[in-house]
Amino acid sequence: MSKFMEWVDARFPATKMWEDHLSKYYAPKNFNFFYFFGSLALLVLVNQIVTGIWLTMSFEPSAEGAFASVEYIMRDVEYGWILRYLHSTGASAFFVVVYLHMFRGLLYGSYQKPRELVWIFGMLIYLMLMAEAFMGYLLPWGQMSYWGAQVIISLFGAIPVIGDDLTQWIRGDYLISGITLNRFFALHVIALPIVILGLVVLHILALHEVGSNNPDGVDIKKNKDENGVPLDGIAFHPYYTVKDIVGVVVFLFVFCFVVFFFPEMGGYFLEKPNFEAANPFKTPEHIAPVWYFTPYYAILRAVPDKLLGVIAMGAAIAVLFVLPWLDRSPVKSMRYKGWLSKIWLVIFCISFVILGVLGVLSPTPGRTLLSQVCTFLYFAYFILMPFYTRMEKTKPVPERVTG
Ligand code: HEM
Repeated sequence: MSKFMEWVDARFPATKMWEDHLSKYYAPKNFNFFYFFGSLALLVLVNQIVTGIWLTMSFEPSAEGAFASVEYIMRDVEYGWILRYLHSTGASAFFVVVYLHMFRGLLYGSYQKPRELVWIFGMLIYLMLMAEAFMGYLLPWGQMSYWGAQVIISLFGAIPVIGDDLTQWIRGDYLISGITLNRFFALHVIALPIVILGLVVLHILALHEVGSNNPDGVDIKKNKDENGVPLDGIAFHPYYTVKDIVGVVVFLFVFCFVVFFFPEMGGYFLEKPNFEAANPFKTPEHIAPVWYFTPYYAILRAVPDKLLGVIAMGAAIAVLFVLPWLDRSPVKSMRYKGWLSKIWLVIFCISFVILGVLGVLSPTPGRTLLSQVCTFLYFAYFILMPFYTRMEKTKPVPERVTG
């Protein structure tokens, strides 16, 4: 075996890569619950790709055949039902995991210097993930697939001058049709997965270049032993590979429970109108996107003007990209930040959740007002950040991690 590895290593940096990224990659020893979600995101990504490949084998990407082929997968293809539920539940699980992964970043200031690029690559992944989920949702060609896509694509029509041409260009037709389905299929099964995989590689390379942050926000590279190994670091393999298995097992318990017992999750993972084939002549009574898009959908509806609504929705995502430059705090972790940062993070999270709930409900004057208040608070968290992070009194950060 060692002779074989010598032969390989003379031609390809296999051992070097193993050491740089696993056996000699020293991660802080104080990772907690929130550090499970990076590896879980990788797990869900693999699940989506593998189940997606098998679904593609029996799916028919045409307006005439798509809906029936999904029924065929569910009823006639051997284990087709489990493939589909693993994939549809996986989509929601992806967003649960990624939202918790991002929340960890907010909590421990993981986006701060020198991890700005880790964050930016993460945000690009998030953006691509949203595009991937949106396009995937059109494929089963149900009522909500059709009308959801209709609502979202028509938003581009609000852009002055080029709006109408742009919507037509995206759809490839005067209305959503089999042509739209075909291009979304191509993008969903091949183009976007490649982009996402590439971005994940960049994300991890950028992280391993600077090293992981941790719940104390302490730079473990400042204290090294005589061999240059950080005193507060432990080798990723075997310590964290083994620890991550615990997270994987717990995650799979919950995930399988949903797949086997609540795959539709009361209409939140698979919406009820989507059990009816797309009908361009019949608008569903209530059109709402899947839960992971609803906070942005609520922001869109909170603004009375269509164009301004689209701008607000775009800005809600865009502002996350510049987060590393909005946080002016001398400390990273919430453990050592002042109470203003803590309160604003709580306000932000509550507003985001309320917006998410409002986005699935049909609007009433009261709900619109509440979504306006939450939209205001959502943006205030970011816009005021340079001020409250500089003003507040922080606690001294310890030299070494606290365990
Ligand atoms: C497919 C989606 C994603 C995958 C597979 C992924 C994977 C990972 C992995 C394996 C780690 C190292 C382990 C950990 O710290 O948990 C990590 C760290 C990180 N990720 Fe992601 N990630 C994804 C999406 C995102 C998104 C959307 C963001 C934010 C916008 C993000 C921001 C970060 C940050 C800031 C770190 C460093 C955390 C620290 O050191 O404290 N990631 N990611």
